[in-house]
Amino acid sequence: MSHRRLFIPGPTESLPEVLDKQTLPLIGHRHADYTALYTGIIGKLAEYFETRQNITVLTASGSIWMDITARNIVKKKALAGVCGAFSKRMYQTIQKSGKEADALEVEWGKAIKPEMVVEALGKGDYDTVAVVHNETSTGVRNPIGDIGNAIKTEYPDVQFVVDAVSSAGGDYLVPEKLKTDLLFASTQKCFALPPGLSIAIYSDEVLERASGIEGRGFYTDLVGIHNYYQKKQQNPTTPNISLMYALSYQLDRMLEEGAIGRHKRHEEMAQYTQKWAKRHFEMFPEPGYESITVSTIRNTQGKAVGELNKELAARGWQIANGYGDLKEKTFRIGHMGDWTPEDVKYLLGDIDDIWGF
Ligand SMILES: Cc1ncc(COP(=O)(O)O)c(C=O)c1O
Repeated sequence: MSHRRLFIPGPTESLPEVLDKQTLPLIGHRHADYTALYTGIIGKLAEYFETRQNITVLTASGSIWMDITARNIVKKKALAGVCGAFSKRMYQTIQKSGKEADALEVEWGKAIKPEMVVEALGKGDYDTVAVVHNETSTGVRNPIGDIGNAIKTEYPDVQFVVDAVSSAGGDYLVPEKLKTDLLFASTQKCFALPPGLSIAIYSDEVLERASGIEGRGFYTDLVGIHNYYQKKQQNPTTPNISLMYALSYQLDRMLEEGAIGRHKRHEEMAQYTQKWAKRHFEMFPEPGYESITVSTIRNTQGKAVGELNKELAARGWQIANGYGDLKEKTFRIGHMGDWTPEDVKYLLGDIDDIWGF
């Protein structure tokens, strides 16, 4: 199988030296060696995210945190911002878990704004607000800092959950500044690791509330996960130890670059891509709300995106078509993880060449 360098919005490219860490010999997950590995990871995550909140790493992809939200945080009724496919998944997961949820829905390509959230909160008896930071299907970056501030100013008891699956580790995010109660991410996006782990940062208030909620299950019981860590500094179930090695190593690299350094590099890649897109097409997100980790571009020239990807494959690249109904109407360039602005220039240069720009 030939190697296609992944400019899709996850999984994204992992460096060989990071992948190699997964071949280290296994250790027992109840051994002191694992405790050292895992507590080291938690410490590095706390430093990277500049947070004093609680942190856990689960062997499950990011979507598990939608189930955890429904089972541990939503007491009775949630308000879920819906602006694309992944935020819709959160809304549906809460409903499928037997809790009430109302959708605060905007047209795809538009952002959820703080005033919309506050207005909606005034109309219903909500205990939780869930918003996606970076809606990977539309390339919209929601203003979660402003939303968090607006919620906590007027509704301090409402808990704020943010899906940062495709932005954390690239975009600069500090839970305390954003006023999040739960913020979660997957490793296969901006952490540039293989899929299989999710990272979550949660407040004491979340734990307190979760303790009083029935039906949290086992794998999705945040109180159980938290208490196990407090007691043993390990995970309650067998973790993907190989991926933990890779995560630990990658976090050293991330700390060396710094959260702000990574943000700036992602911003540069996004700005270059947006300029290119505006020369030939239009951006799909409303102006001012464009993601810095994935650019969704409106295919105003009616180019054949599937065909482009075949030609790019021959040159060793892969980009993403539009999501769901947006296929061929839009296309997406994921510029997340360890890619650099130079890499983006090479990729877009090849697209110029293929499309004759
Ligand atoms: C914003 C967002 N949320 C959730 C998910 C689901 O994450 P996972 O596939 O890691 O469960 C994705 C995956 O692309 C995503 O982009």
